[in-house]
Amino acid sequence: MRVLVTGGAGFIGSNFVRHMLTTYPEIEIVNMDVLTYAGNLENLTVFEDDERHTLVRANIASEEEVEQVFRTHAIDVVVNFAAESHVDRSLHIGAEAFIRTNVMGVQVLLDAARVHGVGRFVQISTDEVYGSLGAEGSFTEETPLAPNNPYAATKAGADLLVRAAGKSHGVDVVITRCSNNFGPYQFPEKLIPLMIANALEHKSLPVYGDGMNVRDWIYVQDHCSAIDVVMRKGRSGEVYNIGSDHDVPNMEIVTQILGLLDRPESLITFVEDRPGHDRRYAMDSAKIRSELGWTPSLNFDEALKATVQWYLEHEEWLEHVRSGAYQSYYEMLYGARGPVV
Ligand code: NAD
Ligand code: TYD
Repeated sequence: MRVLVTGGAGFIGSNFVRHMLTTYPEIEIVNMDVLTYAGNLENLTVFEDDERHTLVRANIASEEEVEQVFRTHAIDVVVNFAAESHVDRSLHIGAEAFIRTNVMGVQVLLDAARVHGVGRFVQISTDEVYGSLGAEGSFTEETPLAPNNPYAATKAGADLLVRAAGKSHGVDVVITRCSNNFGPYQFPEKLIPLMIANALEHKSLPVYGDGMNVRDWIYVQDHCSAIDVVMRKGRSGEVYNIGSDHDVPNMEIVTQILGLLDRPESLITFVEDRPGHDRRYAMDSAKIRSELGWTPSLNFDEALKATVQWYLEHEEWLEHVRSGAYQSYYEMLYGARGPVV
């Protein structure tokens, strides 16, 4: 089987490429990534000389580049991770790049998949398309889409385009919607790696608002095993929620990280809240568990410990991704915010 993985040099994509190459000796991966700030070839150095893995630097929003990839490689399955993925960037830098990649890019890929008769198209989506929960309940696949920030809105738009390609053109599509991921190779702009990186340097840990927003955390390797199952066994046209039932307030995560790194809680700084900040996410993943027999393998505490350990052992990786542009991004986002007193 030849799988086109888009965005395979990013956090989850690179973990998925690693999962596939280590699990299936016969698999071939064509990894198409334009290498934005979030795409990093250092995430995949061990597979540099593996002939089952071909990296193509190309943009999913470019019809010519996508056509070239599909013409050169006979693709059986597309798994689309490529996206602008950070909510704060969509709010503070602008939504344009998000619309180009997350919406237009998805349509370009869907058209190419149809024209070239690809067997299956897996869209990697997110729980954020459902919006925010009140104090009770969790998102099911039937929860109406109600995105609250530009990132989430573009992902919801993509989901609808994927659905439409299935309904009107008969493309074999499946959509996965997963909760917040963490683990090795996550860019330190998202909560967990940002807090680890700052704590390592004894820098303040910027917590938005009152720190009581709830996210449902899953270890990236469990997300990858779920995608693998959906890709192989998911029913065409269906949506599958993915989550591992660990929904906790941000403050709990931050204090746990400080504990693991033996740093004082005085490093926590409450900063101005994110606009439109979704209060609570929680996933009901009963469908993938009962229908496809998937279960997550690691518990949260073990997985967080392993993640902190990974960052301790990869300080050079962290240093590389935080050079140059990262510094000005950090200053723009957090310098302007300042502590809430
Ligand atoms: P990431 O930002 O770490 O990686 C995105 C990758 O896509 C990068 O390698 C980047 O270079 C590439 N890319 C961006 N624009 C591209 C384009 N136009 N053409 C080709 N490649 C492009 O993101 P991630 O956290 O690994 O997320 C991957 C996917 O999973 C996204 O679709 C995201 O919406 C979804 N998702 C993420 C989470 C999470 O917690 N991180 C949770 C649920 C779903
Ligand atoms: P994030 O990792 O950006 O993921 P998402 O917005 O997709 O859920 O943020 C997770 C939670 O952590 C969210 O409630 C916002 C909060 N947060 C902070 O409090 N401080 C930070 O510096 C960041 C990046 C996030």
